[in-house]
Amino acid sequence: MQEKLQHLKEEAIHAINEVKSSKKLNEIRVSYLGKKGPITEVLRGMGKLSKEERPKIGALANVVREEIANKISLKQQQLEEEEVMKKLANETVDVTLPGRPILQGGTHPLTAVTEEIEDLFLSMGYSIAEGPEVESDYYNFEALNIPKAHPARDMQDTFYIDEETLLRTHTSPVQIRTLEQFEGKGPVKIICPGRVYRRDSDDATHSHQFAQIEGLVVDENIRMSDLKGTLEVFAKAMFGEEREIRLRPSFFPFTEPSVEVDVSCFKCGGAGCNVCKGTGWIEVLGAGMVHPNVLKMAGFDPVKYQGFAFGIGQERIAMLKYGIDDIRHFYTNDLRFLSQFKQL
Ligand code: PHE
Repeated sequence: MQEKLQHLKEEAIHAINEVKSSKKLNEIRVSYLGKKGPITEVLRGMGKLSKEERPKIGALANVVREEIANKISLKQQQLEEEEVMKKLANETVDVTLPGRPILQGGTHPLTAVTEEIEDLFLSMGYSIAEGPEVESDYYNFEALNIPKAHPARDMQDTFYIDEETLLRTHTSPVQIRTLEQFEGKGPVKIICPGRVYRRDSDDATHSHQFAQIEGLVVDENIRMSDLKGTLEVFAKAMFGEEREIRLRPSFFPFTEPSVEVDVSCFKCGGAGCNVCKGTGWIEVLGAGMVHPNVLKMAGFDPVKYQGFAFGIGQERIAMLKYGIDDIRHFYTNDLRFLSQFKQL
């Protein structure tokens, strides 16, 4: 019996030493120390032993059991440590691997130009006014001195929603809405940035949707020279200090007189090149003195008040500034195009 226990102990210790995983170690624990294990069996069979042998064997069986149990718990600890170390080694982050680049967006060129123009006019004391893109015929046309069936409506092909409702063709209706809010009392000094829509076929220079910033100043003693000075500041800020402007007579129903504004060519300085088509001048925007009818309809006394207005197209400004040859680039979201403007 003694020998059997001794043998069991050696066998168990050998098995424990050899074991490589806690799962296997647990199997050893069950097979040696469990209820059906050999040591339990020895203890159970003690009844058959003589009185002298019983305490000896009993004590020895307990010692053997304890030794095996200790050995197992030591081994258990060791295995757990090994497993942790193995896991750590597997999960080590290789800090020398190159990182995955994170794609970073940038400012859209139209947004950049819009913000640049807004900042300029804000610095000159203008406020920003906004209004709806779905507009009534009254604000988009009638209040701007363009009655129904007037030929001037052909200047702005329109998307109609119903007879009285349309997608605004310019941001001028925002100026009318703002004038109404002032209830006949100046000064009014606003810019109206926003999207506008026209029933045009898209090509390199036309888009059915584009961006505008219109400006309006209404006060006593506003003169054409105020308009010219303002536009000169604008042209120099956008295209360089050396730029000059010139005004050419034009027609808009809501301004009288009306002008087209040219800026001296920023590429050739006025000598004539492909950008200015040999003329030395580039057309950049339309403007004029607010028509008395428009002031009257919006509740202002046209004898006491005068005003000037101008309309800037951001696409045109951005195309000139950055040498972009097709307006569709702004709306087709080609990253190869857009990423060139990241630093703006
Ligand atoms: N509303 C005009 C347009 O979109 C632009 C403009 C504004 C012209 C103000 C003159 C004065 O065509």
